[in-house]
Amino acid sequence: MTTQLLPGFRLGDYHIDVPLVLAPMAGITDLPFRRICKRFGVGLVVSEMIASRAVDMGRERTERMAELGDDEHPASIQIAGADPQFVTEAARWAVDHGADFVDINMGCPVKKICKQVAGSAMLKDEKLVARVIEAVVGAVDVPVTLKIRTGWDERSKNVERIARIAEDNGVQMLTVHGRTRAQMFSGHASWEDIGLAKAAVSIPVIGNGDIVDAASAREMIRVSGCDGVMVGRAVQGNPWVLGEVHAVLIGAPPPAAPSAAERWLIVSEHLHRLAEHHGIRTAAKLARKHVLWYSKGLHGSAEFRQLFQTLTDWQQMLDVAAGYFLGLGRHVHHHVVHAENRTEAELNIAV
Ligand SMILES: Cc1cc2nc3c(=O)[nH]c(=O)nc-3n(C[C@H](O)[C@H](O)[C@H](O)COP(=O)(O)O)c2cc1C
Repeated sequence: MTTQLLPGFRLGDYHIDVPLVLAPMAGITDLPFRRICKRFGVGLVVSEMIASRAVDMGRERTERMAELGDDEHPASIQIAGADPQFVTEAARWAVDHGADFVDINMGCPVKKICKQVAGSAMLKDEKLVARVIEAVVGAVDVPVTLKIRTGWDERSKNVERIARIAEDNGVQMLTVHGRTRAQMFSGHASWEDIGLAKAAVSIPVIGNGDIVDAASAREMIRVSGCDGVMVGRAVQGNPWVLGEVHAVLIGAPPPAAPSAAERWLIVSEHLHRLAEHHGIRTAAKLARKHVLWYSKGLHGSAEFRQLFQTLTDWQQMLDVAAGYFLGLGRHVHHHVVHAENRTEAELNIAV
């Protein structure tokens, strides 16, 4: 018999059996990639963030960002904004687009978003936080969830107060990225600070920040006592990491590393889905980024990347990628290179 590490939790009409959440990442976790990630055991997916200015709604690009696949439910659509009226409209719009949950983003550190006092800048204004949450909760029938950082900066950390404000105003699940806004992506996520939020409320708390494998997921759960984990950057070019984390959550043995053929199957599916979803022009841009990540640390990747980045013709990109990834079958022993073994130069290419 296996014992599951976390029991999951109820969220509205759903039970999230395996509380493994795919982090929303703008420009990365679009429908094509989410569908692939879902298959590795993700229990809940979240759309890329959709800014709530009403003018954006109805634009073709926004529609594409909010599109959920039939195979993705239960799924969240994430919105952001500081004007209670606009955020309310965005929340209703999200539900009309099939969202089972509406996630409010108050964790985004990007300047453009903070300038409109949305994203993580809102954490400084607790009254505004309460007003926005209250407005959204009152506007939709589906559960409202919230994603935050631990505060604006080290001196003004307010993760516990924000967590309580969230719960008091009807938020049903809270995700905490264990960094302040000032940290951006530097330093380490504080899993202890996630634990402070967990101890402050009784709604499920999802821990986020710096999970890179099964061991780090297990350690975050131990340190913070969180009810679920969210994995972000580690899935870039490596959705298989979700399979590892999934296994640890359900108490199963770790899955085998992908063979060259299995890896290519995923890469090629990803490329085809990108083209189908975005059209070839946008797909080519996105493919450059993803393929580069998929090849990181693999045999001959430096030469492959140099060549791949010069390509502009979609068919040629597919052919060259196929040649490279299938050719790896001859070098199976070089396959799995963990982050700590990667050279600094390789890691610098990552973001
Ligand atoms: C390229 C990129 C885009 C992101 N976009 C979003 C977003 O749209 N909404 C959001 O809430 N967080 C966004 N994040 C933050 C992630 O969801 C996550 O909180 C963060 O990366 C920390 O988790 P990790 O250490 O597992 O990557 C983004 C992060 C990255 C790297």
